[in-house]
Amino acid sequence: GGAGPLSGRRVLVTSGPTVEPIDPVRYIANRSSGKQGHAIAQALRELGASVTLVSGPVQIPDPDGVVVVKVETARQMLEACQAALPADLAVCAAAVADWRVAEPAAEKTKKAEGVPPPTLQMVANPDILATLAAPGPNRPKLVVGFAAETENLIAHAKAKLARKGCDLIVANDVSQGSGTFGGDDNQVHLVGPHGVEDWPALSKLAVARRLAAHLAALLGGTK
Ligand code: C5P
Repeated sequence: GGAGPLSGRRVLVTSGPTVEPIDPVRYIANRSSGKQGHAIAQALRELGASVTLVSGPVQIPDPDGVVVVKVETARQMLEACQAALPADLAVCAAAVADWRVAEPAAEKTKKAEGVPPPTLQMVANPDILATLAAPGPNRPKLVVGFAAETENLIAHAKAKLARKGCDLIVANDVSQGSGTFGGDDNQVHLVGPHGVEDWPALSKLAVARRLAAHLAALLGGTK
């Protein structure tokens, strides 16, 4: 950590997609550039926090001054997050695959004339945000999740806040034409137990810096 309002604070950020193998050469993944999550890690670091960034595969550079743990699957991401505890704050910005293939094939699945396409048997992945937010001695003081929705944004975010047990949801519109996926701008709404704050469209770095300042104020002097 350095100087700043988050000096001495440990924070955990998840970012990027998870990728879940089908066989050694194929996988299932989510659309996520990691731009917003990485920017949040950078912004929290700028405020002096000791940051661990747990990231799925992305095409962008590691933020400076941040410990980066690279993972592929949701289960690996959960394990890396739990290894990074205790933390004062957790921000879950990763696009985690909800399901994985139950039994990935050990060898490449071959196509053959007259053989029908394979059927994938899926099982649920752990919910990293809900796991981190569950009550317990290791629960960070503040747990923040994201809600990427294409419709009924605020209603879905409020439901998610309750269902996941987290303290704040950053809701963003990812409907077609919003330009959020892979883009540099983001328009978000902060949904907490006491209401909703609508933020203007900002660059992902500006959203990150404003969010970091907001979270630093929420953490305040609590130790
Ligand atoms: O349930 P949904 O995927 O819409 O919730 C999004 C939020 O939950 C994000 O903060 C995401 O990082 C987190 N999440 C998670 N683990 C999962 C699924 C979602 O941490 N398996």
